[in-house]
Amino acid sequence: MKKYKPYVKKYWYCFILGPFFMVLEACGEFILPYINANIINIGAANRDIPYIIKNGLLMLLIAGGMLLTGVLGAFFAIRGSARLSAGVRLDTFAKIQTFSFSNIDDFSTGSLITRITNDVTQIQNFAQTLLRGMFRSPVMIIGALVMSFYLNPSLAAVILIVVPLLALAIAGIILTASPRYGQMQKALDRLNNGIGETVTNERVIKSFVREEYEKKKFAEVNEKLVEKSTAALKMMLLIQPVSALVMNVTTLAVVWIAGGQIMAGSMELGTLSSFIIYLTQVLTALNFLANIVLQGTRAAASDRRISEVLNTEADINDKGARFADRGVERGSIELRNVSFRYFKKNKEKVLDSVSLTIEAGELVGIIGSTGSGKTTLVSMIPRLYDADEGEVLVDGMNVKDMSLRGLREGVAMVLQKNTLFSGTIAENLRWGDENAGDEEIREAAAIAMADGFIQSFPEGYETELGQGGVNLSGGQKQRICIARALLKRPKILILDDSTSAVDTATDASIRRAFREKLPKMTKIIIAQRINSVMDADKIIVLDEGRVAGCGSHGELMESCEAYREIYHSQKDGQEV
Ligand SMILES: Nc1ncnc2c1ncn2[C@@H]1O[C@H](COP(=O)(O)OP(=O)(O)OP(=O)(O)O)[C@@H](O)[C@H]1O
Ligand SMILES: [Mg+2]
Repeated sequence: MKKYKPYVKKYWYCFILGPFFMVLEACGEFILPYINANIINIGAANRDIPYIIKNGLLMLLIAGGMLLTGVLGAFFAIRGSARLSAGVRLDTFAKIQTFSFSNIDDFSTGSLITRITNDVTQIQNFAQTLLRGMFRSPVMIIGALVMSFYLNPSLAAVILIVVPLLALAIAGIILTASPRYGQMQKALDRLNNGIGETVTNERVIKSFVREEYEKKKFAEVNEKLVEKSTAALKMMLLIQPVSALVMNVTTLAVVWIAGGQIMAGSMELGTLSSFIIYLTQVLTALNFLANIVLQGTRAAASDRRISEVLNTEADINDKGARFADRGVERGSIELRNVSFRYFKKNKEKVLDSVSLTIEAGELVGIIGSTGSGKTTLVSMIPRLYDADEGEVLVDGMNVKDMSLRGLREGVAMVLQKNTLFSGTIAENLRWGDENAGDEEIREAAAIAMADGFIQSFPEGYETELGQGGVNLSGGQKQRICIARALLKRPKILILDDSTSAVDTATDASIRRAFREKLPKMTKIIIAQRINSVMDADKIIVLDEGRVAGCGSHGELMESCEAYREIYHSQKDGQEV
């Protein structure tokens, strides 16, 4: 509940004025039938027209007041709840920004989206209902009861019997329904996960002609959601007819008893009509309370899910770092006996006692079969993941002891699955440095061999990119991603298979430019093609999470069996 406090405090007037005006409005609700009874019993019975007009005007005045207070009450309730949810949404979003890759893996993207949208909306709805009915409904019930006792105690006894019975029935319904709401929420999570994955990968799905399969998969999850929400809502729908039934039976009982009293002359007609209005008010207020409880149980589930996000400490942070003000200065790297698994319960290690050193300014190639752990290995350097065992050192310091921000500013990694954003090419490049001038942008693009093709576009650097950079070829996209990373002016640059879609000649030109223009930057190039790493100062060969060899091309050809295999499999193929 702590998370709501700042917003309740900040918008305190909404949380006070909302319920206050709603209670004021409720007071009108139970005064009106009383005046109404008087008009019938006194005014109409005595044909006292001035009395009727006077009281009629009074009723009009009260109704006007109720309209005003009702609108004000609703306004503050809406404002307060909207502000509250906006605040929580912002906090949740900010928290997600601090998450590490493994935090995100744990929650899954779909679930994070549901939490920040649907769950926060549940809280907002609940807060709004609460502000409107929290005091109003009890005041309505008590007020109507008091007034009906005042009008006719023996009739009021009927309400006293009925109200607890109905309350019990509603409580039963809610108790049965609320676990079903939990299941409905889970089904919604699965649906959102599915949508997220499918819609972002629509192109892949099309290219594999998997639309039918995806449709079927989605239909299944969709069906499950229908099933779960029907199960939950079915129970809730019972509240309406049960209340109506109680209402009608009670009215019948009231009319029955009142009929006898009226005929005996101990009760007047106006009293009966007002009495029925009070009865309706009590039952309506009871329904509203039931609604608060119901929304409350749903909101409690949502609250738990939001808290899970907010209470998750980002598992990678720089709390307790010994040199929290230090970033990367030179760019040398060392791994000492680093082991890592994604799932801690797995036996197989993805990295197994990896040790290596890279000097500042070196150009290092990493090669190895798919799944051998190349991406995982370089992810250790900017701490996208933390090693389970062993140490990762940058500039001789353990990365855990450095400022996380400083470390990540000093290391630019072009991810294997990289993405561009909608906006112009220049805007995308400025992700690397928002203050970069046109000249700097062109320079970085030139090193990445992107300047040429960008200039050939009619709009040049101002070319608008579609979402994810859809209007570029794979190789063009890769080169823009490299330029974007260069603009960060990192001390360490990591390219994870980032030139796989670039032709061999351009690929070689990029590496030449790296050597000539960026001699001080440490450059790590992961590649599948042996050509891309052959001329590196040092090549690291990975095999099933272990370093199978390390050295220059010549050395590895002599000493490393795994490297020779890769070499022959690629070169021999070319000669055929
Ligand atoms: N986020 C993740 N969660 C769980 N397992 C993962 C994750 N990423 C990779 N793995 C597993 O770790 C192993 C090494 O993967 P990694 O991505 O490091 O290989 P790679 O050498 O980069 O392969 P490729 O050449 O195909 O990119 C693989 O077996 C893979 O299934
Ligand atoms: Mg990889």
